[in-house]
Amino acid sequence: MLKAHIQTREKFELNEMFEPEDLTSFNFHKSLPDYKPTPLYELDNLAHDLGVKSLAVKDESQRFDLKAFKILGAAWAMAKALVDYHQFNIEDITLSNLQRELLEKDSLTFVTATDGNHGRGVARAARWLGQNSVVYLPHGAAKERLNAALAEGAKAEILPMNYDDAVRYASKMASENNWILIQDTALPYYENIPINIMKGYETLVHEIKDQVSLLPTHLILQAGVGSFAGSFIKAFAREFKYLPTVIIVEPEEANCYYISAKSGKDNPQVVTGMLKTIMAGLACGEPNPLAFDIIMRTAQCFVSACDEVAKLGIKRLAKPLGDDPVIVAGESGSVGIGLISLLMKDEKYISLRKELNLDVNSKIMCVNTEGDTDSYNYMKILNEK
Ligand SMILES: Cc1ncc(COP(=O)(O)O)c(C=O)c1O
Repeated sequence: MLKAHIQTREKFELNEMFEPEDLTSFNFHKSLPDYKPTPLYELDNLAHDLGVKSLAVKDESQRFDLKAFKILGAAWAMAKALVDYHQFNIEDITLSNLQRELLEKDSLTFVTATDGNHGRGVARAARWLGQNSVVYLPHGAAKERLNAALAEGAKAEILPMNYDDAVRYASKMASENNWILIQDTALPYYENIPINIMKGYETLVHEIKDQVSLLPTHLILQAGVGSFAGSFIKAFAREFKYLPTVIIVEPEEANCYYISAKSGKDNPQVVTGMLKTIMAGLACGEPNPLAFDIIMRTAQCFVSACDEVAKLGIKRLAKPLGDDPVIVAGESGSVGIGLISLLMKDEKYISLRKELNLDVNSKIMCVNTEGDTDSYNYMKILNEK
């Protein structure tokens, strides 16, 4: 079910990761309609059952009404792109300040390739900002995710290619049509937007700072291209001035960080093919170079997990123990909980558990990065024996 690669953390100065605190993206998010922090739940009964001291889950299924964290990156990167494009001189970038400046300007078109969540975020942010959006989904994407982007007013279609090729296609369409590409992975001569997307994700950590009661000893973070995990690690190190043991988890069909770590090489290794996994948000075969370095230097363990691990997480969160809250977790959101459940319960993983110091003193933090964005599949998994 699991393959794991442990690496000793290369010595690095945590201070190297401390950029000066910058709350502009967080302040922008606070200005968005119906903004509120997503909950950080403590699952006391599950923690007790698994034999760890605590288990905290940041629940992004409750991010606006979008069921995923991804809008945080897209909206901030688009706001910054508009400020730069029009050379607005806005001291305080809030949605209403930006909308006021945009009244006199023609609309631009933003384009992206996405498993669904990011595209829905791009489409929603475009709507808030009075801009146009084009969203490409890879082969195999759920109709529900396509429809979610269409419902936000995007032009959206499913392409006959995998995620990484869809990114190249979106990039080509952007240059041919003079559209702005909003992609969460760096390409040659394309860094500003992915940097701002990662900056936008830092809102999770700013919120956690106000919510956390027990500082974690272990962070379990899922990775697709790695922008989410890389940004989380960087912001965590800066805000809390330490780093817990970081465990990165990916689907085995798209385990580019796992194979990169295992290869011992300094450059990202790539997984090709159709990347077939139920964890659609994590089905990326090529690491974001901007996140790669951060993750490689800070993570202690890389896990390649089969779909069953995500299913286990979904079930654990949907049918909680005692008075733990019910959490609706999609396939890419649940895998961290699935992983810790398996590691602590299955005797096969005793030595891995030991190597990672996972025991009664461990304080685990995971992020449920999405809700039931493919509700048909979610119900199917819940009803499986
Ligand atoms: C629900 C969900 N979780 C996690 C991720 C992983 O983020 P990243 O690709 O930045 O690693 C994604 C990416 O689309 C996602 O949609």
